[in-house]
Amino acid sequence: MNILGIESSCDETGVALVRAAGAHVPQVLAQALHSQVDMHQAYGGVVPELASRDHIRRVVPLVRQVLGDAGAVLAEVDVVAYTRGPGLAGALLVGAGVACALGAALERPVVGIHHLEGHLLSPFLSSDPPEFPFIALLVSGGHTQLMRVDDVGSYVLLGETIDDAAGEAFDKTAKLLGLPYPGGPALARLAEFGDADAIALPRPLIASANLDFSFAGLKTAVRTQLMKFGTNVCEQDRAHLAASTQQAIVDVLVRKAVAALKQSGLTRLVVAGGVGANARLREQLNAECARREVRVHYPELALCTDNGAMIALAAAMRVQRGKAALSTDYAFDVRPRWPLIDA
Ligand code: KG4
Ligand code: ZN
Repeated sequence: MNILGIESSCDETGVALVRAAGAHVPQVLAQALHSQVDMHQAYGGVVPELASRDHIRRVVPLVRQVLGDAGAVLAEVDVVAYTRGPGLAGALLVGAGVACALGAALERPVVGIHHLEGHLLSPFLSSDPPEFPFIALLVSGGHTQLMRVDDVGSYVLLGETIDDAAGEAFDKTAKLLGLPYPGGPALARLAEFGDADAIALPRPLIASANLDFSFAGLKTAVRTQLMKFGTNVCEQDRAHLAASTQQAIVDVLVRKAVAALKQSGLTRLVVAGGVGANARLREQLNAECARREVRVHYPELALCTDNGAMIALAAAMRVQRGKAALSTDYAFDVRPRWPLIDA
């Protein structure tokens, strides 16, 4: 069975064709991505209206490209999957509209997928796929959550951020440091030249009994530190601040992930979402997990950030388990705010 996946929830248009055979882990036949980062960079962040318009321009050519690369034709698509939410309403509507139009024209079912389910299942496409059950640390631009995952569609929320997401903390502090959007990778690059212990920054909720996160205070602390440096802050101090900020975020994520593993008694951790690409986070999680004999799984680096493959994969894994809400009436809606436990 061939599943076409379309992702358009934010600033990346992603399309992929995935094949599911029996109960095997589905395989990606081809995928293509257009990132809008260059377009939004001029504004210092994602402009929703521009994002929607660009998805409209990109999505059909990307579908053609993916089919061409896979050596397939539209008639060989058995299911069309799209990101139903969460994300920007207008951007989501583009993917949903195109998916449903394709489904209607081909007389094939369509299925709306939860974006975070795509992220958390994406390590199944890696060379070292996980096995259920596991703890998932979901760290994206909009979400920071710890989940217990027993199977596809069996998610228990253990903790989440009460204010900013980890990616948002990276992006906002990077902006304060004058770094370009998206801030996460830019801050990580600057951090390489700094000392992570140079500047004392708060680690909010790190010692709290629950598994919730809070990152808003970090941004304030960085702003205060920058004011102390004054207008002529030197490159070295900026790098120290970047390294110290990254370390504060990583310390909290690692401590809480380890606490979730301990509380659940599980010995497998899956890390997903854009911040999962962070090298320091990976290094520290690997060390902590090795010490505790916990297996840790990541998506391939290219699949950490938004992409179509994870949406097609999530749809395929749901179809394999009889858990896909397949629709053939092609009436669709999108869910800009959509808790994963309701998916
Ligand atoms: O999952 P994602 O691509 O989009 C959302 O669903 O939000 O995550 C994007 C987030 C952004 O906040 C970006 O700054 C962050 O992931 N990010 C990183 C790195 N690469 C992307 N943060 C830290 N270090 C990185 N290497
Ligand atoms: Zn995402």
